[in-house]
Amino acid sequence: MAEQRHVRVLFGEEELAKRNAEIARDIAARQPRNLLVIAVLKGSFMFAADLMREMHRAGLTPQVEFMHMASYYEGTVSTGHVTILKDVESDVRDRDVILVDDILESGRTLAYAKDLLTARGARVVTCCLLEKPVKRAVQIKADIVGFECPDLFVVGYGMDVAHSFRELPFVGVIETGDGLS
Ligand code: IMP
Ligand code: MG
Repeated sequence: MAEQRHVRVLFGEEELAKRNAEIARDIAARQPRNLLVIAVLKGSFMFAADLMREMHRAGLTPQVEFMHMASYYEGTVSTGHVTILKDVESDVRDRDVILVDDILESGRTLAYAKDLLTARGARVVTCCLLEKPVKRAVQIKADIVGFECPDLFVVGYGMDVAHSFRELPFVGVIETGDGLS
């Protein structure tokens, strides 16, 4: 497809698959009880789906739920706030929850979801495919990180720019005509 020729691969399919298997084994080693994966929509849907399959291979029997949040920015990063567009449907009390997101950037949405689920009585482990180390607005560190992400805008493997490119099976960077974006 034409669009795909303009996306430079940053993390390829094999690299993602290998890391997902490692993460699943890491989660299995924590011996979770009553395991629930909560995937943050929309960006983590592909990562979460692949991770669930690897969890199965690692001997785990997770259930899955989804949360969708919107982050509003009012002038500065630090004054933004989060609202819930879609909440989980199950009771999370006393469950081991793996909260899965695509990218940890300001950290606001992940911190909000983690605090909410913790307040509901879940034991929350946060898991992000990518971490951008430089732009944290709130104090949060992901417990599990797939890869450190360079300070570039990435797409693919669930992540978008203006709702496109989510279908790519790899993480990449959109290239401009004469070089790197
Ligand atoms: P934050 O950590 O609350 O700022 O939210 C980070 C969210 O911003 C991620 O879950 C993505 O949805 C989005 N995001 C941040 N950086 C990128 C990027 O490089 N590509 C695509 N989406 C991004
Ligand atoms: Mg997101």
